[in-house]
Amino acid sequence: MAIDIKPANGKLGVLCVGLGAVSTTLITGTLMARKGLANPVGSFSQLGKMRVGRGEKKQYKHVGDIVPLTNLNDVVFGAWDVFTDNAYESALYCQVLKKEDIEPVRDELERIKPMKACFDPEYAKNLIDPSFGRVPDPLWAMPTDTRWNYAQNLRRDIQNFKKENCCDRVIVFWIASTEKYTPRNEQVHGTLAGFEAAMKADDREHLSPSMIYAYAALMEGCPFIMGAPNVCVDIPAMFELSRKQNLPIVGKDFKSGQTMMKSAMAPIFRTRLLGVEGWFSTNILGNRDGQVIEHPDNFETKRISKASSIEWILEQDEYPELYTDIYHKVKINYYPPRKDNKESWDNIDIFGWMNYPMQIKVNFLCRDSILAAPICLDLLIFTDLALRAGMSGVQEWLSFYVKKPMTYDDERPVHDLFQQFAMLKNQIRLLGGYEADQELD
Ligand SMILES: NC(=O)c1ccc[n+]([C@@H]2O[C@H](COP(=O)([O-])OP(=O)(O)OC[C@H]3O[C@@H](n4cnc5c(N)ncnc54)[C@H](O)[C@@H]3O)[C@@H](O)[C@H]2O)c1
Repeated sequence: MAIDIKPANGKLGVLCVGLGAVSTTLITGTLMARKGLANPVGSFSQLGKMRVGRGEKKQYKHVGDIVPLTNLNDVVFGAWDVFTDNAYESALYCQVLKKEDIEPVRDELERIKPMKACFDPEYAKNLIDPSFGRVPDPLWAMPTDTRWNYAQNLRRDIQNFKKENCCDRVIVFWIASTEKYTPRNEQVHGTLAGFEAAMKADDREHLSPSMIYAYAALMEGCPFIMGAPNVCVDIPAMFELSRKQNLPIVGKDFKSGQTMMKSAMAPIFRTRLLGVEGWFSTNILGNRDGQVIEHPDNFETKRISKASSIEWILEQDEYPELYTDIYHKVKINYYPPRKDNKESWDNIDIFGWMNYPMQIKVNFLCRDSILAAPICLDLLIFTDLALRAGMSGVQEWLSFYVKKPMTYDDERPVHDLFQQFAMLKNQIRLLGGYEADQELD
């Protein structure tokens, strides 16, 4: 029996925290797609078909014919940023898309003007470091205030955006810079009461700006998606708040390039029981994200996120003779000439029959934001579906899209890309009133 899902009526507001490379690529592509001028390649919610039913009842349907999805025409974008650039100016600056692919939606992009950010330079030092070139001038941020007051300002921003754009519902989506690593502190992050007390005491050490956005969003009845690797909604205080408010939370860190490849390759070794001795992953990247991650405090957040996938997939505990002591190293090098066109290399040292060694090399010349944009679109379309289906808390079925899938503390994350895809499809089957199954498509 189909789960009772509210229809996708009215406008869906999407408030992007950060109006940089990924956001403007997402927005431009979405606006172009709804004019019929671009194909949303890579988006399962827009292009995907999947099997429902088994045996004689087997059918292949578009995802949108199985579950009620919001039409792209009903999506309204807004944003916050520390740069004053509107979405058109920012898209040109980021140089992901060619001018000819931006111009047809110029008017709509120009109307997306960022609201003042809740910003703490301590969390993204390189963003305002003039030695990297352009700095926000003026700094388009709310005046320095307590964490508590910031949250109240953001709540007002959300209310105003919702009203001005006649939105039925709003999703807040962190597509802003990677923040410095914020280790979990039980007193502050362990309960909602502790978190709110820390906000009132203006605890800047343990409360990052992204946590304040997430808090404001959930208090305003908006789901929150974390697209960066920040420690943010993956803390007990946010689990508590999302359940209390009956809202979905999703994260974290888009699985777009190198980690997508890793989470597709590691299952090969695991299923064939080939050993892995070492996995060296390095990247060159020249966009503003690379600039921010160049700082060791911010790189640490990304490193932890990128490092976790293969150990989980290979099940080290079950196969110590094959996967213990893997030398796994991840590096990201800021290299401005490449801009958004990231290049990654992987060298994998594996071993087979009688421990004979072999090597695999992967060289992926990708485009970071081109890979991330369809992930963003699917995340927001499916998070809205979860909202209308009354699903609250951590949305593990969306692990397919992220590098470090959020789970509750005592649950094991699923990193294998194909298992994640099966989870995604089964949740869609269930929501559409079909049986979840393990049958091959
Ligand atoms: N592109 C990918 O493939 C990919 C994959 C995984 C994760 N990500 C993450 O997505 C995020 C966005 O990447 P990008 O390439 O668009 O970066 P970007 O630097 O082009 O854009 C980020 C924007 O966020 C703004 N910002 C920073 N702090 C803010 C705050 N407190 N409030 C509001 N705005 C703020 C910056 O000014 C900037 O304009 C990064 O965290 C990145 O690590 C990207």
